[in-house]
Amino acid sequence: METTNDSFHMESGNPMVGSFPLSYAKQSLALDEYHFESLDIGYKGVSSVTQLLSDCLKDSYIYAQANRIHLTMGIQGVVHALCEMSFPNQRKNILIEEPSYAFIVDLFKSHTESKVFTIQRTIEGFDLKELEEIFQTQEIKFFYLVPRNHNPLGTSLSYQQRKKIIALAQEYDVYLAEDDYFMDTFHIRNYEPLHYLSGGDHCIFLGSFTKILPYLCIGFTIMPAELRQIYIDKVDDLMKFGYYTPPLISQTMLAVLLSNNSLEISKNLLKRDLQDKISALQKYTKYWPASILSYSGYHGYYASIKLHPKISVDCYIRELEQRNIYIRSNLESFYHEEHFDNSVRVSLAKISAEDIHKTYPILRELAESLYAE
Ligand SMILES: Cc1ncc(COP(=O)(O)O)c(C=O)c1O
Repeated sequence: METTNDSFHMESGNPMVGSFPLSYAKQSLALDEYHFESLDIGYKGVSSVTQLLSDCLKDSYIYAQANRIHLTMGIQGVVHALCEMSFPNQRKNILIEEPSYAFIVDLFKSHTESKVFTIQRTIEGFDLKELEEIFQTQEIKFFYLVPRNHNPLGTSLSYQQRKKIIALAQEYDVYLAEDDYFMDTFHIRNYEPLHYLSGGDHCIFLGSFTKILPYLCIGFTIMPAELRQIYIDKVDDLMKFGYYTPPLISQTMLAVLLSNNSLEISKNLLKRDLQDKISALQKYTKYWPASILSYSGYHGYYASIKLHPKISVDCYIRELEQRNIYIRSNLESFYHEEHFDNSVRVSLAKISAEDIHKTYPILRELAESLYAE
C-alpha cells in the first residue's frame, strides 16, 4: 500500500518499486550481452553475474570468489535450506534472537524437527555470558542473527560484540547465519560484517537485494568450504519442488546494474534519503518520555517503539489507524509470545521526511493520552 497525502504506511518495510530510478532498470533490460549464456542456470546462478558480484561486494567488506557465491531468490529460502541440511557439527538445535525478523520466526516455528532456543536482543546487543552458556550446553547447529540494521530494532551490534560472538561460535563449533539483508545501504562508520571479521570461518553469509531492487527477487549466500557441497545437494533436492535460483532476466539485469554503476548510484540516493528521514525523526524521538514510549534505534528502515505496559498495543494500533497511520505489533517477532515486550514496529520505507513531521508527534501524543487514561 502506497503512502498518500492522507495515509501513512509505516507497517511495511517493502520500498516502492519507483524508489529505484526505473530508467536504470529499463536500460538494463538490454540483454544482448547475455545471448551467449545458457538458460540452464543450475543451482549457482550465471557465472559472469557471480563474478561481477564478487568484484562489487569487495567495496562492502564482503570477500568471496565468484565460485563461492550462490545466487538465490532471497534469504528466506536459504534459511529453509539451512534448517534441512545436515551440518558437520551433527546437531539439530537452532538459536534465534528475540525479537527477530517475523517471517523467519514463523519459518522456524514450522520446522518441528529442530528445537529452537532464543536469546534476548536488546539495544546493547546480547548478554554474552548467556550466549556462551547456550553455546556450551544446548548443542546449537546454527545461530540466526541480523547483526546490523536489525529488524525490528533498528540497531547494530558493536565491534566488541561481533568479535566475541565470532570467538564463541568458533570455540563451540556453532555456525553463525549472518542475515545482512540491507548490507551497507545504510552507512555505519567502520562497520565490518561477521563474515569479514571471521574470515568466513563458521559464518554463513546471507545477502539480499530485496530492499534496493525490489523487483529482482535476488539474494545470495556464501558458505564455508565444508558446507558448500552439503548446500548444493540440498538445493538440488529443493529444485525438484520449485524454483530456487532467480530467473535469468533478474540475474542479467543485476549484472548490468552492477557493471554500469547504476546500483551504486541508486544505493547512494537511498542512503541520503534515509539519512534525511532519520535526522528528521531524531528531533522528536530523542525527547520522548522513555517510561511511556521509547524508540529503539536509528539504523536502516526499521525501529521499535516500546510502550508502557499500561498501554494496549492493539488499542494504540487501532487508534492510529483512525488517524490513517499504519504500524504493526512486534508480537510475531517473538518466538515465545510470553516474551513479547509490548512494542510496535515502524518503518521508513514508504514515508517521506515530510511525513515524519506529520506522524511522529501523533505517535507520542496518542501514547501519552492512552497512558493518562
Ligand atoms: C532481517 C531481514 N532479512 C531478510 C529480509 C528479506 O530478504 P529476502 O527478500 O531476500 O528473503 C528482510 C526484509 O525485510 C529482513 O528484514
